Amino acid sequence: MNKLHEKPCALITGATSGIGAAFANRLAQDGFDLILHGRKQKELTERAKILEESYHTKVEIILAELSQTEEIKKVEERIKSLDRLDMLINNAGYWEPGYLWERSPESLEAMIMVHSVAPIKFIRAALPHMLEQKSGDIINVSSIGAYLNMATTENYGASKAYLINLTESLHVSLMGTGIRVQALIPGFTVTNFHSRLGADFTKEQKKWLQPEDVVDKSLRGLEKAQVLCIPGFKRRLIVKLFKALPRRLFYKMMHAIGEKSKKKWDEIQKS
Ligand SMILES: NC(=O)c1ccc[n+]([C@@H]2O[C@H](COP(=O)([O-])OP(=O)(O)OC[C@H]3O[C@@H](n4cnc5c(N)ncnc54)[C@H](OP(=O)(O)O)[C@@H]3O)[C@@H](O)[C@H]2O)c1
Repeated sequence: MNKLHEKPCALITGATSGIGAAFANRLAQDGFDLILHGRKQKELTERAKILEESYHTKVEIILAELSQTEEIKKVEERIKSLDRLDMLINNAGYWEPGYLWERSPESLEAMIMVHSVAPIKFIRAALPHMLEQKSGDIINVSSIGAYLNMATTENYGASKAYLINLTESLHVSLMGTGIRVQALIPGFTVTNFHSRLGADFTKEQKKWLQPEDVVDKSLRGLEKAQVLCIPGFKRRLIVKLFKALPRRLFYKMMHAIGEKSKKKWDEIQKS
């Protein structure tokens, strides 16, 4: 990528598909140069080519497995070496079905690396640019799962809750600097998130949000300095209702919903 950027520059992790790819399309359209992170070279190269041709934007790709310290470092170093960075979107993420005790300690650690360690390192690398520019946006893609302590989603929920807490604290620390931060907290969205686990949710997906809508709500929210963005009225209501429940009732419901979901995933994995 050219050293002297005239256009604003955004780095998006997990830009191969879903919400990350929708951010890439939208920001290219909005006039950003892009650095797209993912793990699949072919898909990312194709996306980069389409965006470059459609929007005359410069697109660089960076491949990294974000559960690995050395790979995280690669992205961190690239961020540090940029001459400008206007937007950082920590979006890469995944889910694994099953109870915590059924997962290997290594897989639990890997998820924390992707959802929590990589984002904080990228934020640390990006902030000097943004503080110097006196502007910049950071979006951390969390999940409604951070609020709903469903059985079988312990590590996913906790690693995503970290992002919400981190974002709110950063917002407080960065007041008056010109840097805006947002935790984007989606519910079910039509992406590869579930299908990469072999599930077919074609029927259920009719009620899910499209990634483009999630991105639109996020960017509109950012303009209104919305620190916590939960796209969709129904989803905001669900979070509010569950938060208002007496804790014991909440725990029972989350246990029951988690058990039901576990049965479904067990069937999917057997078939
Ligand atoms: N879809 C939903 O219902 C939903 C709901 C709540 C929150 N979210 C959150 O939204 C974010 C985006 O997910 P999505 O729904 O757009 O799913 P997606 O289509 O599966 O995209 C996930 C992206 O993350 C990357 N990624 C996954 N694991 C990675 C790893 N270990 N190292 C590096 N990159 C990795 C993938 O890269 P490759 O494809 O190149 O491997 C892909 O680009 C995630 O953080 C997810 O937790 C999604």
